Parts: sequence; C-alpha cells; structure tokens
Amino acid sequence: MTRPPLPPDHEIRLFHPDLGERELAALAGVIESAWLGKGEQTRNFEDEFAAHLGVSPSQILSIHSATDGLFYIAEALQLEARDEIILPSISFVGAAQAAAHSGARVVLCDACPRSLNVRVADLDRVRTPRSKAVMLLHFGGVSCDMDSIVPWCQAHGITLVEDAACAPATRWRGRAIGSLGSYAAWSFDSMKIMTAGEGGLVYAADPEARASMALRASMGMTSSSGYASTTGDRWWEFDVQGSGRRSVIGDMAASVARVQLRRLPEFIARRRQIDSAYRNALANIDWLTLPLPVDSRCESSYYFFAVQCAAGQRDRLAQHLRGLGVYTSFRYYPLHRTQYFRAPAADFPGANLAADTTLCLPLHTRLDDVDVAYIVDAIRTFRA
Ligand SMILES: Cc1ncc(COP(=O)(O)O)c(C=O)c1O
Repeated sequence: MTRPPLPPDHEIRLFHPDLGERELAALAGVIESAWLGKGEQTRNFEDEFAAHLGVSPSQILSIHSATDGLFYIAEALQLEARDEIILPSISFVGAAQAAAHSGARVVLCDACPRSLNVRVADLDRVRTPRSKAVMLLHFGGVSCDMDSIVPWCQAHGITLVEDAACAPATRWRGRAIGSLGSYAAWSFDSMKIMTAGEGGLVYAADPEARASMALRASMGMTSSSGYASTTGDRWWEFDVQGSGRRSVIGDMAASVARVQLRRLPEFIARRRQIDSAYRNALANIDWLTLPLPVDSRCESSYYFFAVQCAAGQRDRLAQHLRGLGVYTSFRYYPLHRTQYFRAPAADFPGANLAADTTLCLPLHTRLDDVDVAYIVDAIRTFRA
C-alpha cells in the first residue's frame, strides 16, 4: 500500500490525543453544571479508575499530574539524607526530580538494552544497606518482571514505587500494574494513552497513606473537597491539620478522563493492531531489530513501538523519516548523561546501548492503516 506524499507542513506525530464528540458532551455537561472544580466528576473518576485497577477507592487519589503524584509519594516515603532511592537512568525526568525531593540520595541503575526495563540484577548491583525505595518505570507500558522484583523488594525491606504513567491498562499475571507495590502514579497528560489534557492519579496500598496525601493535596484542610464544610451553623470554619499545598484535577478534566477510561479497551485494541502490523511488515529488514515480544505473563498498554538499529544508523533513520514527514523520538534520554543527575557512563552499559540505538515510531489511535503502511514504506526506503 502506498500513499501520496504528505503535504509539506504535515507530519505524522509520535503521539496524538484521541478526543471527540463523547468528550465534548461530557465537557458540555460540566460547563452547564457550573461546577468546574473538584466535585462529583472527580470522585466518580477516582472510583471508576479504582474499579478498573481492582483496588479500593480509599487507595486512589486524583492529583494535578503524575509528576505531582510522584512528589507526594516521595514525601510519603519519609526518607532521610543518609537513605538511598534507586531508579533507572532511563526514567522520566519528573520521576528523578521527585526522587531527589524525597531528601534521600538518588542512585541511578542500569536497564536491559532490549526491553529498556529494569532487571533485578540492575537493582542488586546498586543496592546497599541504605537502599530504602525503588521507583520503577514500566517502559512503554510493558511491565518489568514483577515475579522477581516484588520478592526482591520484600526480601530487602525496600519500598516499591511504580511509575505507571504510561501503563493504564498493563497487567502482570492479571493484576493491574501500579497495584503491585506500595505506591504508584498514572498520567493523563496530552501524550498519554488516555488523556484529560493534564491530570494524574496516585495509588497508596495503605489507605492511611492515601488519606495523608489527600490532606497535603488540600492545603492540610480536613474537608474532602479541599474546601470548608457546607453544613453546620458556621460553614466557613475549617481546621488545618498539617502542612500542604493544592493539587486537583478538576471536574472538567475528570469528565474527559471518565470518557477516556471507558474507551480504554478500544484504544488498547487499536494499539495492539498497529503493534502487530509493524511487527509483520518490518520483520525481515535485516538491519532493524524489533521490540521483544511481550512476555506471556504481561498484558501491555502498547505505549511505544521502539525499534533498534546500529548507533549512527539510528540517528540517520530518524532524520530520513523526519524528511518524509514521520516524527520519531527516543524516550527516555538517560539521566546519567545530564548535568544534574550525572553518573559514570561505565556503570550503564545497557542504558547507553539502548539510548544510542533505540527509536520510538508513531503509535496512536489516530493512525490509520494507510499511515502505518506509509511509515513502513518510509523505513524500507532508508539506505542503511
Ligand atoms: C514514564 C513517565 N512518568 C511520569 C510522567 C509524568 O506525567 P505528567 O506529565 O502527568 O506529570 C511521564 C510523562 O511523560 C512519563 O512518561
């Protein structure tokens, strides 16, 4: 299948939000209700996402963004300066900033050069008696091997935090990713599988930890809405029980997120189709390596389709595709190469290899079959 050249100003995007009439109708309802802040829509979204995960609503809290959520989690860990928190060098920068915010020393670890996920061996290599927490990324919505990581954390008394930002539908042996450790965060920013424009959720296995985050997210005020009670004789009075700031998703975003959650199975089915189409069409290109097949214990969210080829070739392929109107990228640039989180390159052979050879192809539900065929053709015309 071939497609005519794209118009000069047109680019096939790496990500694309999939919003339409149903989201507009939900937004219209909120606008008509004239209650835009944290209200019924937000509470319903929290309850519905909890049901989707198979956890209790008392363990789920809506929040401004996943980064914001990871900062709350970092505070909840109650770490001290002599403690250490481990996270993969291939992590979203906001996760690393949250880890640093915990007050503990941030220790970066390596990852598998093929899956870009962390393995127990990577964690073990950097573990010390001061290791208190791990902040784990499930790369591209494909789960890490939780059969080995969960028991490893338990054996060493290390708190497991899952960055599930890109894994809203990912399961490991049937259990929702994000519910396997003590804490997790999901993102609904504009580049995510289900989006609310901006928005996030956190999970805390311990409802008391969730309650304490909720207090901090509502300026330390007791009312669940973050505002004074509307009942009683003097409804303007309130109590402040601790320190806090203000983090809300708001009913406009939550109403969109609720529709997107209902559409999640449809999104995942289409993403899986595109993943298969890429795998079939790109299988016999000898200079290109396809992503590892998804482990039979994992149900993926199909967030990335990350191909690999020799280092210099990868950069030329990206430029070749961009010249043909196909935008690609590499996520996540290793933190050990940045000034703030710098660490010796020799400690990250897997992350270095992945960072030099991996390219994420467009993968979103607004790609039709002709787009996918165009991208495949564009790759085939590359002279490796
Ligand atoms: C793996 C990962 N974690 C966390 C985040 C942060 O999400 P948010 O934009 O909601 O703060 C992102 C966003 O790109 C991400 O990709």
